[in-house]
Amino acid sequence: WSQSALSICVVGASGDLAKKKIFPALFALYYDNHLPKHFTIFGYARTKLDDAKFREMIAGNLSCRLSDAGDCGAKMEEFLSRCHYQAGQYDSLEDYGALDKRMCAAEKRFKRGDRVFYLSIPPNIFTTVAASASSAASSKSGWTRMIVEKPFGRDLESSRQLATELYKHLTEEQIYRIDHYLGKELIENLTVLRFANLVFEPLWSRQYIRNVQVIFSENFGTEGRGGYFDQYGIVRDVIQNHLLQILALFAMEQPASMGAEDIRDEKVKVLRSMQTVRLEDMVLGQYRGRRVKGMSQPGYLEDPTVPPNSLTPTFAACAVFLNNARWDGVPFLLKAGKALEGRMAEIRVQFRHVPGSLYRDKLGFSAGMSSESATNELVIRIQPNESIYLKINNKVPGLGLRVENTRLDLTYGSRYQTHLPDAYERLILDCVNGDRRLFIRNDELEVAWEKFTPVLQEIEERRVQPEQYPYGSRGPVGAHYLAAKYGVRWGDHN
Ligand code: BG6
Repeated sequence: WSQSALSICVVGASGDLAKKKIFPALFALYYDNHLPKHFTIFGYARTKLDDAKFREMIAGNLSCRLSDAGDCGAKMEEFLSRCHYQAGQYDSLEDYGALDKRMCAAEKRFKRGDRVFYLSIPPNIFTTVAASASSAASSKSGWTRMIVEKPFGRDLESSRQLATELYKHLTEEQIYRIDHYLGKELIENLTVLRFANLVFEPLWSRQYIRNVQVIFSENFGTEGRGGYFDQYGIVRDVIQNHLLQILALFAMEQPASMGAEDIRDEKVKVLRSMQTVRLEDMVLGQYRGRRVKGMSQPGYLEDPTVPPNSLTPTFAACAVFLNNARWDGVPFLLKAGKALEGRMAEIRVQFRHVPGSLYRDKLGFSAGMSSESATNELVIRIQPNESIYLKINNKVPGLGLRVENTRLDLTYGSRYQTHLPDAYERLILDCVNGDRRLFIRNDELEVAWEKFTPVLQEIEERRVQPEQYPYGSRGPVGAHYLAAKYGVRWGDHN
């Protein structure tokens, strides 16, 4: 590193994502000495700001970790002194040229200058920015990488168009497509859990697993983001990317190595083996307003940025199937919704019954549970309160024989007294290090769209009415019927 300098440019620096996630992640990386020694950060956006105002703007969202607040103030000052701002139009070669000059100045003393551009901008200007930034501000002496974040198109065709446009200016190796769920600690851990533990991998198949559920819920609506959200809806916003990526990692075969290409090859295979999602295996919902704890919560259609007759779903559940030897016939249920009861993301793996169990009656009746809830269930709680627990049947201590379903529990907060890095920290660092394991390759993206595009088009063509559900509830009842159709009960409702 001592021979090279790194410039990181956040395009769209005054946007919400940049302020709330990207700059704090960069600061955390700097704080923990993960960034190379000679780095400079540039913010780029249309707003006219000078360096001082820009630093003030980002400082508001930087925070020190409680445990090591000692020298944090000084570190923050040092970090901010490395942050600069360049005002510019998104399509102006001249403005990127001005940025390039400043980057060159920062790289002057070094043999090599590497550059990361983080495009934190609306999708309609992706290609414009990629084109102008890469032609006017690419590194001349080192590598240039661009981080882009979904939405990558609205369907297969628009996603392909986007890829074609990007490839005019960048190679696949330069494009880092972020899916921030892949940067979450518990998702990173999925491969370790499976492939480093003898006790799980042999059970990881249709033979022992009844169904797998990937569940995402938020206890807030689209407040303020209705304009963006209404054009995409929950399937494109969360299911086709975050939840599907989790499914792919969960279900893939053991890769030949932990290298990026090997892992992504396996994920692509899983996605290819997936049946195209069918409308009859999908439930859509949209939240309506209601009073929650004395406060009136607006319905989706009351959001002023949403068209009054919008049919855009804010909730969706679907059942998908993998046509391969390992998972044939196992329902994978994906569910995501906004304005629900709580905020939570988890994977639930429901195992089959113990055949001919000696304790079936002890379990079902003495613990007051149905025999279904007395089977084993592995829960990977992605957030909040990160944990992994396995529901097992255990004898209640004491005389007599009472068996109850309880938890073997690995709660991160009590097991590890350490700060869990934010997903953006991990992903930005991976990009700086050229590790593409957690980024989406173009063929993965294509196949993900292939599987969802027909149903999304059908929903729009047939103007499918989403089922209404009250703000702060558990979502549409239809989700239960969908699960029941495959003999499944949602684990988060038990
Ligand atoms: C984003 C979606 O990708 O993920 C948002 O666009 C959603 O709608 C967000 O709120 C959830 O991310 P997290 O990390 O807060 O669970």
